[in-house]
Amino acid sequence: MSGFSFATRVIEEVDIQSRVVELGQAIARDYQNRDPLFIVMLLGSVPFAADLARAVDIPSEIDFMALHRFGESGRIGIAMDLTTPVLDRNVLIVEDIVDTGLTLTVLRRMMADRGAASVATAALFDKTARRVTEVPIEYRGFEVGDEYLVGYGLDWEGLYRNLRSIWAVLDIEAFVADPRILSTALRSP
Ligand code: IMP
Repeated sequence: MSGFSFATRVIEEVDIQSRVVELGQAIARDYQNRDPLFIVMLLGSVPFAADLARAVDIPSEIDFMALHRFGESGRIGIAMDLTTPVLDRNVLIVEDIVDTGLTLTVLRRMMADRGAASVATAALFDKTARRVTEVPIEYRGFEVGDEYLVGYGLDWEGLYRNLRSIWAVLDIEAFVADPRILSTALRSP
């Protein structure tokens, strides 16, 4: 474990990579002859989805979707929709992290309503303790605590999605005061 007073590295790049390969192998086994349609949730799931899709060595397709959450109400709408029809497809939702579970619940229902043959989820991180609504996660990478995480797709104000490992924010106020604090620290000798 390495880090600074305001953030600490909690998952190393090699551990992410080997877990993603394991998930990919499990998916490839389960989806033989079922050509999964990966539905990648923008923006945070992009790095995970790129690695996962390449670890699934069977025929598959990829499409993207973005959801929008309206303020405090928690109401969820579509900011960008799929271009691929979901009817009769074996849909695999690719999520970066499941927190309350509300986003995933809405999404799974949406896919079922559109006539998917099956719906499953691959989520790299699961904040189980923060769940508000029970929702199945068929392929789960890591169970994590309730700290705010950045890296490998997860952001703070749009930053840090490009980090190869996962960092936990220890001092929220420091990130609020200077969102670039971690990149500055990582770049200094
Ligand atoms: P949920 O609907 O509460 O499950 O929200 C899931 C979404 O919240 C994820 O797709 C992320 O965009 C965001 N999120 C939750 N926890 C974190 C975190 O620790 N770091 C970055 N984003 C997070």
